[in-house]
Amino acid sequence: MKFSPLALFVQHDGRSARAAVTCTYKCGNACFHEVSNKSSGEYFGDIVAAISRRRALQGSAAAVLAIGAGGLLAACGADADDVAAGGSAGPGAQFTPVTPNQDDAVVVPEGYEQAVVIRWGDPIFADAPQFDFDKQTAAAQAKQFGYNNDFAALLPIENRDNRYLLVVNHEYTTEPFMFTGFDGATMTRDQFGIAIAAHGLSVVEVSGEPGSGALTPTFGHYNRRITADTEFRLTGPAAGSEFVKTTADPTGTKVAGTFANCSGGVTPWGTILSGEENFHGYFVGKPADPVAAERAERYGVGEVDAPHFWEKFDKRFDVAAEPNESHRFGYVVEIDPWDPESTPVKHSALGRNKHESANIHVTDDGTVVAYSGDDERFEYIYKFVSSRTIRPGSDAASRRANTTILDAGTLYVAKLTGDHADRIDGSGAAPSEQGFTGTGQWIPLLHVAEDGAAQSLVDGMSAQEVAVFTRIAGDKAGATKMDRPEDIEPNPKTGKVYVALTNNSKRGLDGKAGVDEANPRAQNKNGQVLEITDNHKGTDFTWSLLLVCGDPNAADTYYGGFDKTSVSPISCPDNVAFDPHGNLWISTDGNALDSNDGLFAVTLDGERRGETKQFLTVPAGAETCGPVVTEQRVLVCVQHPGELDGASADAPASHWPDGGSSQPRPAVVAVWKGDGGAIGV
Ligand code: FEO
Ligand code: CA
Ligand code: CA
Ligand code: CA
Repeated sequence: MKFSPLALFVQHDGRSARAAVTCTYKCGNACFHEVSNKSSGEYFGDIVAAISRRRALQGSAAAVLAIGAGGLLAACGADADDVAAGGSAGPGAQFTPVTPNQDDAVVVPEGYEQAVVIRWGDPIFADAPQFDFDKQTAAAQAKQFGYNNDFAALLPIENRDNRYLLVVNHEYTTEPFMFTGFDGATMTRDQFGIAIAAHGLSVVEVSGEPGSGALTPTFGHYNRRITADTEFRLTGPAAGSEFVKTTADPTGTKVAGTFANCSGGVTPWGTILSGEENFHGYFVGKPADPVAAERAERYGVGEVDAPHFWEKFDKRFDVAAEPNESHRFGYVVEIDPWDPESTPVKHSALGRNKHESANIHVTDDGTVVAYSGDDERFEYIYKFVSSRTIRPGSDAASRRANTTILDAGTLYVAKLTGDHADRIDGSGAAPSEQGFTGTGQWIPLLHVAEDGAAQSLVDGMSAQEVAVFTRIAGDKAGATKMDRPEDIEPNPKTGKVYVALTNNSKRGLDGKAGVDEANPRAQNKNGQVLEITDNHKGTDFTWSLLLVCGDPNAADTYYGGFDKTSVSPISCPDNVAFDPHGNLWISTDGNALDSNDGLFAVTLDGERRGETKQFLTVPAGAETCGPVVTEQRVLVCVQHPGELDGASADAPASHWPDGGSSQPRPAVVAVWKGDGGAIGV
């Protein structure tokens, strides 16, 4: 089917360009519902924003009009050429940037090659059937690569050259793109079974060839599918509490499955952390008890339009029938990909929210600090500091020992204070020569001792309540309401922590939190990237904004102080990663600048700090996920290709990756330098 480029990006609700169908299936239309966080917090910014809101909004509207939708692509192209001409970026960032585009393709820099590694439905066991779009079954899907790949990790297998474990999250399903003639009202039990099996994670052995970045899946003995039915063990203060006991699990410790797994992280001991994000979208109905109903509302549970229809086939997804089941999701889960028989874990000591990911920094004395963000408008940034120190190594005994390290320690939530609060007016104008800067405090919420004894550090809440209703604990602590904290990751070279804040269309609106120095724009469509210099074990930090994203020609953007005429435009930062040189790589979700989403390299230090260069773009309707950047290759997960409003399996808007008249299939792509050289060098 041909589609009109004009209809490509629907700017509903003043948000990013994400299609409405993506919102429905991925986040349960969170953007269309009332903001979950109605806590009062402490907002000096509210006052300033109220004074300046009208002026600020008029200013940004004028800027958009002056640029014009059509002119932007051309302007961006020129910027990209300038960067290429300059050409003297540091190692890792030396490539000719890709021009923003709306192609139905993965577009990579000149001199680079690409190939699909694995796509939805590809067999990962020798006895799995080949994918047949028209003859899908749950049994087949349970042995095939799942749907909508998000986070990816590539773990070298010791003593085996060019062999890796590829571990991938499968965040959500979009049935109208998986089945022709799909109608939620008549969803079949088979389709339900396929959806359950298409969620979770895949572990797949892949092999490479010298001189190429291409990777080929193999039926290795580590291969595993984890689905929305796989048994997990709940640990930490929530485990066994009255909030998580259900008819099927009166112990409150054995949870069936994981879903809504967005991003994640690799631990130093070789396991995978994965964030259960928009879990609320899988539940319908509200608890009868008013206190429970209020808690459910704080998480948006019962406020979705039931796009998944799972409750029709399994009553655990009906909150009225099983009020505690939703309390068993929203955790950071840990999977040991080196032991296919292992029972994965949900760590409740890291709290329950819509975790985008979790990533670890290890201090000099071996303390493990796990950073995590809660991806919804006006939600918080968290960290967990272990009380035990790491057992070095990634052998089986170390993995076993370290897999309990996230069960004892202290959970904190972040409060940020700007250095120039009185100069933040919602326009996005930088308040100082150094841009946007400030200090912060980590406020303790929960402490768990080595013996598992848990202590609440929040007045009026038990430890179990803090672990299960962590958002409410954050409210009481007066944490800073952020513009959707997505991926958060410490730079292995410097220890500085980077947070993608993707956007927040409601910032500064009447009745909502106003602007502050870390979230400086009213009705923020393009997002920003926060850099935290943390006293990792301690409770204080300093911060600055590395990027205030959006059109570089607009006054409300900031590229780390770098010359904005020489950057690639970036919008809606989502996942972050680091290359071996310490550059930050950012993938985007919902580019609001009339281009497909993509992957960008950003220089962090020296006089080129803030230089942003686009490495690739993904096909129309897709989101760029899971970046992995090594010396030899870049991996991205292309999530929901062709997921555009009005499109479906009956009228596909993309034929990526197989071309012709094929259905689009989410897939992992490897990109490498054609001459076999190092990425970006
Ligand atoms: Fe799955 Fe935070 O996006
Ligand atoms: Ca996102
Ligand atoms: Ca990451
Ligand atoms: Ca994402």
